Amino acid sequence: MSTNLQIGRDGRLRHLLTMEGLPRELLLRILDEAEAYAADRQREGIHGDKKRPVLHGKTVVNLFFEASTRTRTTFELAAKRLAADVVNLQVSASSTSKGETLLDTLKTIEAMQVDMFVIRHEASGAAHFFAQHAAPGVAILNAGDGRHAHPTQALLDMFTIRRHFPDFTQLRVAIVGDALHSRVARSDIHALRTLGAREIRIVAPRPLVPTGIEQLGVKVFHELEPGLDGVDVVILLRLQKERMLGAFLPSTGEFHRDFGLTRERLARLKPEVLVMHPGPINRGVEIEGDVAYGERSVILEQVAHGVAVRMAVMAMILGEAAGEGREAPKQ
Ligand code: NCD
Repeated sequence: MSTNLQIGRDGRLRHLLTMEGLPRELLLRILDEAEAYAADRQREGIHGDKKRPVLHGKTVVNLFFEASTRTRTTFELAAKRLAADVVNLQVSASSTSKGETLLDTLKTIEAMQVDMFVIRHEASGAAHFFAQHAAPGVAILNAGDGRHAHPTQALLDMFTIRRHFPDFTQLRVAIVGDALHSRVARSDIHALRTLGAREIRIVAPRPLVPTGIEQLGVKVFHELEPGLDGVDVVILLRLQKERMLGAFLPSTGEFHRDFGLTRERLARLKPEVLVMHPGPINRGVEIEGDVAYGERSVILEQVAHGVAVRMAVMAMILGEAAGEGREAPKQ
């Protein structure tokens, strides 16, 4: 899949499709921009003015062909806080359910003069397909395509990690669980590599490790205890049963016994370790409820940062100039 589709000739971000090949400077610029939006929120407080009208007059269409809670809501909030008009197409109630192809859906909505599509689809490559066929000036944001990529999730994960550990070159990060079906794992691995993480591990039963993942510089562990030894960040993944075609796994009970993050297991890790999860969590499977909302967990920080990161990406792609519409953050 072509990755340079997402960067224009002028070096600006044109679409956001994947973390693979996204230049380090651009990745850091997105994180810095997001930092300014997050600082706005901190300055204004929970009930303060949330609008930064950088995208006034622009139209964003959310096209979600797969279930989503956080990603869809935070994309919608991000667009609205930038003062864009937002349309959420109810895919199950749309003409795709009558057999209209993805391309015909794109062209139909494009004819209504929209500026940006946020797309989530079960097919790997769906966002690239849209970007290849979109009219000039129409931007595509990938909100998750099959097992392939989930770039804004990786950006918000990097943003969250950086707030706690600014120097990636010191970090050991373990990604635990169903890496095989996880677009989050792939995008996180690319982003962590780009930022120079010291060590990236996949910790999972053999059938849930993607073949050839070592080629990305990842160390593979099939047991939890050695896999988590000395790590600074643990990213847990849900067992994505909807993508499992056959019997890949032992039962969820067995998975929990061997790989679930419990309070006892957490207590053996570094005291400053971060526990992350893209959500939705399956309590009692990959994570105990107590741990998910315990003091090492940054799962809800990840959700909050999702809004700032998505605002940054949308503003960088569609805004006249980065930073327009909001004050510079106080240092
Ligand atoms: C993830 C996804 O959809 O890829 N969730 C998310 O976007 N926050 C992970 C998952 O579904 O398990």
